[in-house]
Amino acid sequence: MNPLFSERLLIWYDKNARQLPWRESKDAYRVWLSEIMLQQTQVTTVIDYFKRFVDRYPTVGDLASADEEEVYKLWEGLGYYSRATRLMQCARIVSSRYNGRFPEDLKSMLALPGIGSYTAGALLSIAYDMKVPAVDGNVFRVVARQLCNGSDIGKTSTRKEYESIVEAIIPERAGDFTQALMELGATVCSPVSPKCTACPVSEGCLAYERQSVDSFPVRTARKKQVRERMAVGIITSNDKILFIKRDTDGLLASQWGLPIVDITRETLADYASEELDITLSGMTAIGKARHVFTHKIWEMDVYTAEASYEATPDEPETRWLSIEEVEAIAVPTAFKKALTLHENK
Ligand code: ADE
Repeated sequence: MNPLFSERLLIWYDKNARQLPWRESKDAYRVWLSEIMLQQTQVTTVIDYFKRFVDRYPTVGDLASADEEEVYKLWEGLGYYSRATRLMQCARIVSSRYNGRFPEDLKSMLALPGIGSYTAGALLSIAYDMKVPAVDGNVFRVVARQLCNGSDIGKTSTRKEYESIVEAIIPERAGDFTQALMELGATVCSPVSPKCTACPVSEGCLAYERQSVDSFPVRTARKKQVRERMAVGIITSNDKILFIKRDTDGLLASQWGLPIVDITRETLADYASEELDITLSGMTAIGKARHVFTHKIWEMDVYTAEASYEATPDEPETRWLSIEEVEAIAVPTAFKKALTLHENK
């Protein structure tokens, strides 16, 4: 890398850093919370969620003793509920094992739920100014372009390679450096139409020199998402809607959802009678909805039906909820789409 890279980057960051709520302090709890939220979600979306979380849970101890359903409700709409599950697990460990203080070494940090090498690096550098690299998608892009590095960024070995490259150039102010590198990737060295003429490190950027910025980073095509044809039921009894607690593993693990089946395997009516011991009547198709997850797409046919009675089997756990009660729980977006069809009927 250009020997002036880090210095120029920091000078640029000092002038151009966006003011973001998690940049107001170096409190490890806040840094951690923001990094978990930012893992798969955009900055603009995260801002309000972050503020609501720190208002409600000002310390990691508050989050550790929080009511799970309340946390899921605050998380609603951020996606990837497993992040919220691990967030709570991590908070409890930090609270009990480390007295509320996030550990200051990489090994202990990596052992915490939800913390991988990127998040550990971000946290150790931003909160404690330790010289540990944090390579996210933004950093991959900046570094790949600087060096015309053609390694496939989807491979684990490439992450290690990039971590070594970044580690070698971390200056004092390691935390600002981590954020500056991400900031450059997010605001200047963007995936499409990067603003190279405004870039503080375009001098020495090999891809810029060779006019091949668009060719980096290199990533082999991801596998296409699998399409699943589903039937989802809004099953009512006395105006209450049936919700089912989902399995503790798999998609939307442990979340409250509507009954849903893969129609190439079974029907809603069979599922209801076999798994829940209820008979459905007046089954009506009310529309279609679609939800894209990381690895699959649900193409949903949405039905309403009346239940014979309010079954409450032990397994799966169920709840019958009025519309108002539904508002109070966290409902994954895929099911929200089905409920919206029902409400607009
Ligand atoms: N993306 C991931 N971490 C971030 C941070 N600390 N600031 C801005 N964007 C980010």
